[in-house]
Amino acid sequence: MCGIVAYIGKKQASPILIGGLRRLEYRGYDSAGVAILDKNIKRIRSVGKIDNLAEKIKNQDLSGNIGIAHTRWATHGGVSEVNAHPHFSCDDDLVIVHNGIIENYRELKNELLTEHNFVSETDTEVLAHLIEKYYQGNLKEAVTEALSRVRGTYGLVAMHTKEPNKLVAARLGSPLVIGVGDKEYYIASDTSPMLAYTKNVIFLDDGEVAEITPENLQIFNLQSEAINKNVEQVDWDEAQAQKFGFPNFMLKEIYDQPIVFQDAIRGRYDLDGGTAHLGGLNMTIDEMHSIKKIILLACGTASYAAMIGKYAFERLAGISTEVEIASEFRYSDPIVGRDTLVFGITQSGETADTLAALREAKRKGAYIRGIVNVVGSTIARETDGGTYIHAGPELAVASTKAYTNMAAIMFLYALQFGRLNRTSVATGQRLLAALLEIPEKMEIILKQSDKIKTIAEKYKDNKNFFFLGRGVNVPVALEGSLKLKEISYVHSEAYPGGEMKHGPIALLSPDFPVFAIMTKNQLYEKMRSNIEEVRARKAPVILVATEGDEMAKKITEDVIYVPPTMELLEPLLNTIPLQLFAYHTAVSLGRDVDRPRNLAKSVTVE
Ligand code: BG6
Repeated sequence: MCGIVAYIGKKQASPILIGGLRRLEYRGYDSAGVAILDKNIKRIRSVGKIDNLAEKIKNQDLSGNIGIAHTRWATHGGVSEVNAHPHFSCDDDLVIVHNGIIENYRELKNELLTEHNFVSETDTEVLAHLIEKYYQGNLKEAVTEALSRVRGTYGLVAMHTKEPNKLVAARLGSPLVIGVGDKEYYIASDTSPMLAYTKNVIFLDDGEVAEITPENLQIFNLQSEAINKNVEQVDWDEAQAQKFGFPNFMLKEIYDQPIVFQDAIRGRYDLDGGTAHLGGLNMTIDEMHSIKKIILLACGTASYAAMIGKYAFERLAGISTEVEIASEFRYSDPIVGRDTLVFGITQSGETADTLAALREAKRKGAYIRGIVNVVGSTIARETDGGTYIHAGPELAVASTKAYTNMAAIMFLYALQFGRLNRTSVATGQRLLAALLEIPEKMEIILKQSDKIKTIAEKYKDNKNFFFLGRGVNVPVALEGSLKLKEISYVHSEAYPGGEMKHGPIALLSPDFPVFAIMTKNQLYEKMRSNIEEVRARKAPVILVATEGDEMAKKITEDVIYVPPTMELLEPLLNTIPLQLFAYHTAVSLGRDVDRPRNLAKSVTVE
């Protein structure tokens, strides 16, 4: 996700834009740029933090009352000044900033290449040339026509030298807010850049286009019909605004999951062919066929996402897959060869253990690829290909949305390999159909946050927990246990349900709650009998169960129901109640959920 700021009015735009970008740096910070319209368009861009851009601007004449600015979280195209926004059309008369993913940018670019020259690798520049193609003197109409050709998501602001007193903004899937002043307007990705000037805001909704002059703001739908919108008063402070009103980044990122999950899979699957297309794999069909073993290297939460990937690769592709804790792998004399494909799975792309393990695998001749969140990170650059998970900046130390998106990408990779041998087109279509339903099913679970909060508060004084799962829900139990430990500092352990009777059950007592995942799948009856063993020791039970399972309520009053889905995909849903349980427990204990003690977002030392 990127950050957009724009201004039109009587003030000098440049200081407002730079100040606004600083407040949006949490949305992306690999490069930034600003464009001011004052007869011509003056544009300055820089790589790195906003300070670099501010430094560059210092001795330049950037006077003017209308401008747009952008801080980038790279998705398409590496981190470079030429890929930084704002992006020009061919004639430098039109300039835009954009947040989102243009899914069909390749086909649009091929159509435009004959008459337009491109200078960047971005999907955004395609949008600039597409608007230019349709421009016939009315920017709002040209933007609307161009957007009718676009598949994907956007929050964009455009301006044109031929309409020097106008901004056009549009939103589909990426937030845009308009701040209303006295003959002046502010546009931004959230309200934080405008709160110093106005608290009167209009939240653009999906499919809306705004035409803004200092005197007038008009909003239309994509059929060019005028829409009336209410001006709302926000009473957030800047910090709250950056979290869209959430109390901290962790809860915001838990709630981001349905949206960023779609960003992970968007444009990377083929429903008709029942397959996936992850171009970054950078392997020929023959090379893919030559793979006899897959190793998934990761640390922490990423290693539990990797365990989900193990089930996916083995079940869909029939390829033996091992999950290796990166810090152990490199010293364990690993068996790796030319027929081995090694993925480094990492949010930051900087985890030293994962990097070192990948380098060891490379020395042994394996194919090494990355499943990474941060574009341009060390692991993204050192691997010979891979896929960005498009989770957007994850600022809370405890990983949530990155974990879900890592799993999503591994399902797609498993399908891509699976369709080379044992997975039929029908199975592939069923998996993709189930994947496409995940976001709405996540939303159903997120709506139960208050109920989960009540359960968490009921057990907040307990000092020990077990988390139990079976099959695909073992990594879910492990992740739920880690989340509780990380942010609430409460001790917990996770076990496969069948393992309790071989020792751990000795610990059970009425003050040792057991959180079990008992969803309706092939191991449901087995988990139920494991839970009976637990109840026989008088330990309290909290359940994640499938909607409609009345048996769950007979076992305990503390049941969190989740919608059914394909068994393999259950972790994408079943983990959310555990994230929320850990979150509410930590809050009830007064912990700093975004910055838990002793932890770092990325451990770049061994
Ligand atoms: C830990 C983080 O330091 O590193 C975890 O606190 C994370 O949240 C783990 O899962 C691995 O980090 P990364 O960036 O390699 O996924």
